[in-house]
Amino acid sequence: MQMKLLQDRILKDGQVKEGNILKVDSFLNHQIDIDLLGRIGEEFSRQFAGSGVNKILTIEASGIAIACATAVCFHCPILFAKKTKSLNIAGDVYTSKVESFTHKTVNDIIVSKSFLGPEDRILIIDDFLANGKAILGLSDLVRQAGATLIGAGVVIEKGFQGGGDRIRSMGIDLCSLAIVESMDPVRGIVFRKD
Ligand code: G4P
Repeated sequence: MQMKLLQDRILKDGQVKEGNILKVDSFLNHQIDIDLLGRIGEEFSRQFAGSGVNKILTIEASGIAIACATAVCFHCPILFAKKTKSLNIAGDVYTSKVESFTHKTVNDIIVSKSFLGPEDRILIIDDFLANGKAILGLSDLVRQAGATLIGAGVVIEKGFQGGGDRIRSMGIDLCSLAIVESMDPVRGIVFRKD
């Protein structure tokens, strides 16, 4: 289920930029509206209620605040994967590669083996879903650890980039609070119908 309050805020304060970029940095990923953030966390906790989530997994940087707001509702810790350009970090870590179509970069992402294991029931949280590479990388870490992936929650899915549909077709329970079907600097933003 999409979240009307969030859609209205995107229409009011989001800016569509060239290159298919939606800027929401006045309320979501630079300056953050903390009341909206709380409502987002509550919405994710409603949508994944009863699933026994015991840890939230996200990726630095913008996912962290949203993951924290969600973890407050689940009363569980968050774990954020760190991004690194070169894998020369010593120690016991799970790693995966995440290619960013938006930034044209490839990052290794890592989490310590101490904080992810078979006893964990993981909800992945992130701010944007475009091509889905971040969520796929995080779900790969969950698989390596032998943990259970309960699902994934994203605040804004850019539906026209296809990543969300690919993730759903893999059987991952994906909840997107706003799905942008199309956007254009002149014609504006259209959300997917529920
Ligand atoms: P993907 O993970 O779904 O494949 O997406 P992609 O690689 O294309 O996007 C990578 C980064 O760009 C992510 O941030 C994502 O949040 C951000 N992003 C993608 N589309 C948009 C957009 O339309 N607007 C904004 N504001 N951000 C977008 P990141 O690399 O994880 O960086 P960080 O900001 O979290 O540190």
